[in-house]
Amino acid sequence: MKDEETLHYPDSFISALQAIWGDGFLSPGGPEEIAAMLNGVDLTGLSVLDIGCGVGGIDCLLVEKYGAAHVTAIDVEPQLIEHAERRFAQAELSGTITAELVKPGPLPFAADQFDLVFSKDAMLHIPDKQSLYKDVRRVLKPGGRLIASDWLRGGDEDSTVPDILVEWGAQNGLKADFATPLQTESALRNAGFQSVEVQDRNAWYRDEIKKECLQVTGPGLQQLIAAIGMDNAEKRVRSYEIRREAVDEGVLRPCHLYGTKPA
Ligand SMILES: C[S@@+](CC[C@H](N)C(=O)[O-])C[C@H]1O[C@@H](n2cnc3c(N)ncnc32)[C@H](O)[C@@H]1O
Repeated sequence: MKDEETLHYPDSFISALQAIWGDGFLSPGGPEEIAAMLNGVDLTGLSVLDIGCGVGGIDCLLVEKYGAAHVTAIDVEPQLIEHAERRFAQAELSGTITAELVKPGPLPFAADQFDLVFSKDAMLHIPDKQSLYKDVRRVLKPGGRLIASDWLRGGDEDSTVPDILVEWGAQNGLKADFATPLQTESALRNAGFQSVEVQDRNAWYRDEIKKECLQVTGPGLQQLIAAIGMDNAEKRVRSYEIRREAVDEGVLRPCHLYGTKPA
């Protein structure tokens, strides 16, 4: 087992994120944002792969609310998989959702296996997007869909990643290789997807991040300090402030990504 220092999501951080974003969620928006991503897509009977499942709250929703027949929920951090497995067992969904610890790199699945590949705010951790999108296309059945949310960047297509994003990325242990929506559309097409769409959620998140900043500096601060200690809580507050600045300036752009593997 890795020690807390080498994990991106140690238990203290998991508690802090859920205190802000809700039980089962390590990313913003809660069930409403999942509804916005899925936008009426019927998952009844579908076999789903969730890349970067975190603590698994979304996987329960995919089954309980949206009717997925089976979800394979993968993550690279063992403590997150343990959290997710506990959640699935408590919800009596262990037979319907399989949690799997994977290594970063190619997806360990055969071709043409899933009806839907889903991912919420996890792809930012995977630097080589072109290989990732190709691999996602490989594991999808013909006619299968990718529905994901990811953090993209604004600014000129040719410009380097803005400093504020480099700072935010560094705080979250990320290399700053954010792509623009246009670059992402083109990477998805190059990977062989059709009906590609990138929907910008910057306007929505401008309001959300204001609420999150008020939460972490106001009623949530004591909870945050109790979960992760004063020093780490101060770092988290700073991280939210940087994020708010980056979102307000339009350089950090949460986006929904869609693509279909040709039938
Ligand atoms: C911001 S969290 C989001 C978790 C969850 N999707 C949610 O929205 O609650 C990002 C997740 O991606 C996972 N992750 C990072 N690199 C990954 C990789 N190469 N493959 C799969 N998951 C990865 C992290 O461990 C973490 O659980």
